[in-house]
Amino acid sequence: MSEALANLLNETRQFPPPAALAAQANVTADAYDEAGADRLAFWERQAGRLAWARPWDEVLDWSNPPFAKWFVGGQLNVAYNCLDRHVEAGNGDRVAIHWEGEPGDTRTLTYADLHRLTCQAANALTDLGVVAGDRVAIYLPMIPEAAVAMLACARIGATHSVVFGGFSADALSNRISDASAKVVITADGGYRRGKPSALKPTVDEAVANCPSIEHVLVVRRTGEEVAWSAKDHWWHEAVEAASAEHVAQPFDAEHPLFILYTSGTTARPKGILHTTGGYLTQAAWTAHAVFDLKPETDVYWCTADIGWVTGHSYIVYGPLANGATQVMYEGTPDTPHKGRFWEIVDKYKVSILYTAPTLIRTMMKWGDDIPAGFDLSSLRLLGSVGEPINPEAWMWYRQHVGRGELPIVDTWWQTETGAIMISPLPGVTATKPGSAMTPLPGVVADVVDDQGQSVPNGGGGYLVLREPWPSMLRTIWGDDNRFIETYWSRFEGMYFAGDGAKKDDDGHIWLLGRVDDVMLVSGHNISTTEVESALVSHPSVAEAAVVGATDPTTGQAIVAFAIPRGTTDISGEAGERLITELRNHVAKTLGPIAKPRQIMLVPELPKTRSGKIMRRLLRDVAENRSLGDVTTLQDSSVMELISSGLSGGKSDED
Ligand code: WT7
Repeated sequence: MSEALANLLNETRQFPPPAALAAQANVTADAYDEAGADRLAFWERQAGRLAWARPWDEVLDWSNPPFAKWFVGGQLNVAYNCLDRHVEAGNGDRVAIHWEGEPGDTRTLTYADLHRLTCQAANALTDLGVVAGDRVAIYLPMIPEAAVAMLACARIGATHSVVFGGFSADALSNRISDASAKVVITADGGYRRGKPSALKPTVDEAVANCPSIEHVLVVRRTGEEVAWSAKDHWWHEAVEAASAEHVAQPFDAEHPLFILYTSGTTARPKGILHTTGGYLTQAAWTAHAVFDLKPETDVYWCTADIGWVTGHSYIVYGPLANGATQVMYEGTPDTPHKGRFWEIVDKYKVSILYTAPTLIRTMMKWGDDIPAGFDLSSLRLLGSVGEPINPEAWMWYRQHVGRGELPIVDTWWQTETGAIMISPLPGVTATKPGSAMTPLPGVVADVVDDQGQSVPNGGGGYLVLREPWPSMLRTIWGDDNRFIETYWSRFEGMYFAGDGAKKDDDGHIWLLGRVDDVMLVSGHNISTTEVESALVSHPSVAEAAVVGATDPTTGQAIVAFAIPRGTTDISGEAGERLITELRNHVAKTLGPIAKPRQIMLVPELPKTRSGKIMRRLLRDVAENRSLGDVTTLQDSSVMELISSGLSGGKSDED
């Protein structure tokens, strides 16, 4: 029988944790033993890191799978855990957020400031008639009010639904309607690429189709003129007028905390529902364990947008539950110059940086001299999330950002998992570039074949989770059947993540991309990730995307799009020579079966706003034209097609 997914890439480099970090690490190897001995007792201890108003009666109720209940009967308030308890412990003066606006304006918010603002916002929402169980949509730029709005909802038991500020009016109104949100919190706009970028007109357009919306709260950020209607209220008026006194009421551990829509590949977006106690337990513990967060000394920075789950779990809930100090940045990495990220690291003395492979590859493309121009000596730990990180991008990150010595945690998780699931522990794991390594303590992941059988080391297949975990999604909002269908039906009794993966000879896990993207070439299932990594391992390639295009002889053929590094000459014959060299390089690295039929050198790749390559679009490009011996993608209609996926910044990714 053929393998579910071929294992082609062989990476042998390995980096032990720095001794000094290991000696002081928040979490040691004992955690694996403890969780292995008694998984539920392990999670129970992590829940004990939070403040509960009423203890739980039972750790896990899994009597009605796949509908889990964690910390049954327990009660707590998420905002109390993220704010009040730090202020009560005497840490009100600690900086919670160093905020940097794109134009260079700054704000510093201590835990006491954030607490006061959240109490006022909670009172303002209550005055607008929002009660526990109501849904509130949040459509904001990366400003502190985004965190305040989320925490204020959590404080009063309203379920927030954050919609990424780059989404269209249609996408926003679909999400508002699906959840019947009563209030939307937005801003006049935010700053992007050096200019104000309006949000309020998009909300006006969306709200016109959303009868459930009773009020719109508008933060003034850019000061640009906005249209005004009877439903609109200025945030600064409502919040400033509200009392700063607010006593947080506890909510049930399974009270709905937030809905976050995820689009998957083609279908209508799914409202992923997360609840209170289990979610906060795992978000808080993973921030402590994986980032080795030391609230007294670290300055942490996660570059994600609050509109994605990474912003929920690792800007708002995880770091704040730990009482951490963090940086929040409003804008884009190349405004006003390509060194902006490194300038921010330098300015705030960031010690822990959590970013995405797409960003790392972009930085690689821009050139090594850019990070070299800043003092990055404050950094002590690096993280990656969102996609498989190619080994060469990992090495670049370690070399040029991490001084060739910092540990990198490649963290695998999903909107659905709520928190990190597979990752090195920085004080324990000897990392391999490109591998997420091992499931965290308390997480039971596996790679299985078509029949749901665990594959041996060296084998490839489908990533599954065999046991429930505290921060797991509870359902798809309003659609239990779709929840069962999508995640729990492919393999009996297992959560199917939709990702391909392999185990290497040591049993370490390598993510191989979405299974929908796997290419079937002459009967072999080949991962897009492995071919992309082989391309990126060539010194002339900064970034690559690979798709399977229908082919009369092989079923599918591998078509690759590659972005050359900064100074590479790709004109005329030099371009042709590079393409031949790259095809041979892939064949040499992975074997002849993985040799691309075609490689196109392109200046950009179409990506979603969260940085994932839009392979569907590239597949269209690869299939809809007679490619012949075209070597570079200069044809303007193709470029238009590619850029239509990139353009305007207002396209939904569904
Ligand atoms: C999908 C989930 C997790 C927060 C941001 C994305 C891919 C995520 C990794 C990683 C390989 C990864 C997977 C996953 N992914 N992290 N470290 N290595 N792939 O959340 O939008 O729900 O996407 O992102 O394909 O299923 P999301």
